[in-house]
Amino acid sequence: MKEYIGNTEQFAENECRKIRIGKKKLLVWRTKEGFYATREECPHQGVSFECTKLTGTMMPSNPNEFEYGMDGLVLRCPWHKWEFDVRTGEPLFGTETKTIKTFPVSVEDNKVFVEVT
Ligand code: FES
Repeated sequence: MKEYIGNTEQFAENECRKIRIGKKKLLVWRTKEGFYATREECPHQGVSFECTKLTGTMMPSNPNEFEYGMDGLVLRCPWHKWEFDVRTGEPLFGTETKTIKTFPVSVEDNKVFVEVT
């Protein structure tokens, strides 16, 4: 079911909004790459992400090389610091196996919709 959740200007870039559709609690994120929606709870122990600020992370690199990347696309749990790609819900670099459920988001005529399945 596709739900209207607001107009684009109601979502600031690099911020998120909590929304509730039926019994589902979602976070909708506006990033530099677009809109994404995830469940509110961390798949590890179920704590709420609470619209934590999206960040970047240290990328895999050679010894003694430090490369920061994915700026504004990493959702880091405030409890145990597991990191996920906000676009896919996948844990970064195969460090964990649990993923965050994501929901498709679309924009039509400045209206933002999320598809809840
Ligand atoms: S509850 Fe999120 S990483 Fe542990």
